[in-house]
Amino acid sequence: KKVVLAYSGGLDTSAIVPWLKENYDCEVVAFVADVGQGAEELEGVEEKAIDSGASECYVVDLKEQMVAEYIYPTLKTGCVYEGTYLLGTSMARPIIAKAQVEIARKVGADALSHGCTGKGNDQVRFESCFAALAPDLKVIAPWREWHLSSRESLLDYLAQRDIPCAASATKIYSRDANAWHISHEGGELEDPWCQPSEQVWTMTQSPEQAPNEAELVTLTIQRGEVVAVNGEALSPYQCLVKLNDIAAVHGVGRVDIVENRLVGMKSRGCYETPGGTVMMAALQAIDELVLDKASRKWKDTFALEFAHLVYDGRWFTPLKDSILGAANAFAEHANGEVVVKLYKGQAIAVQKQSENSLYSEDFATFGEDDVYDQSHAEGFIRLFSLSSRIAALKK
Ligand code: ARG
Ligand code: SIN
Repeated sequence: KKVVLAYSGGLDTSAIVPWLKENYDCEVVAFVADVGQGAEELEGVEEKAIDSGASECYVVDLKEQMVAEYIYPTLKTGCVYEGTYLLGTSMARPIIAKAQVEIARKVGADALSHGCTGKGNDQVRFESCFAALAPDLKVIAPWREWHLSSRESLLDYLAQRDIPCAASATKIYSRDANAWHISHEGGELEDPWCQPSEQVWTMTQSPEQAPNEAELVTLTIQRGEVVAVNGEALSPYQCLVKLNDIAAVHGVGRVDIVENRLVGMKSRGCYETPGGTVMMAALQAIDELVLDKASRKWKDTFALEFAHLVYDGRWFTPLKDSILGAANAFAEHANGEVVVKLYKGQAIAVQKQSENSLYSEDFATFGEDDVYDQSHAEGFIRLFSLSSRIAALKK
């Protein structure tokens, strides 16, 4: 029997390797997704997996693909979860699950395993993707089965088996990082009346410490995708990395929220999405120029639907294709350039232009114009409000 485990190199998944072997009498193949979590997490990860007892370890670079095929399409919908969360963890799950299934096919595995707890969203996302892509494979979720509930017990478990582990007994936060964002949960954050301490944040400078001078960054947008930063044409992943570097210095992209998890409870999370926040501001600015009122309203409607779809892990569904079809139709018009001003935690689009712009100074001006006859507005308003007039007269 063979299990492919989504392995991170952290304490939890390090303990899962021997636990699977002992409890399922199986061979464990470690699978590590490189989604841009950074060199620190990935360093020596293969060796760690083998030391924990994995028979093999596959590290798969998904960075470019994640941004191009998961993040950019999601951005075209303009979706944001519960008004604030830019879905960084949620968007990474489908591609990780898909790559894990591919490894499972390659090595002829009969089961998949992950290190998500039984209280969170991630278990649902992974397993919903597994269900869609590999309904025949068994899923093993150790956190829902074992009785190892603390970091100490996990460390003891490894020590008893002489498995080396550099993890410490005290790790305050549960974090999840990729190229798009990092999330922070746990520790003092569990109390919503407790402000996040400065040690929570790892990706961005605090706005208070940010430079006193604003910085302008120019984004070129083609068909709803950021294709160049400050005039330099780059791949989607490279655009993101460059914008992360620029925006992090200015403390851009921090949010602190209490959100509704899919499994019913609320949780408090802090998120850092510097480059993504700049991209969102720029894409929104182009929409302001090119989408008419009814189109924007429809986009807001499906954006909300898509935010929940992504959050809930329903990527591999016909609904995803349907909403992305709608988003792509609008994105055809989303071409142009936006200058975003970064200053002490803020990212504001201060200049915007598009060849598809519907904005016309001739129409909008408060001065003299020859395209709009103000006397026409009277008849428009009378008919527009006719139903209200009729109802009021009736009373
Ligand atoms: N609450 C966020 C989400 O559900 C972040 C989850 C972080 N996951 C983790 N394994 N630490 O998308
Ligand atoms: C976990 O419980 O594994 C992390 C948090 C989440 O999935 O929501």
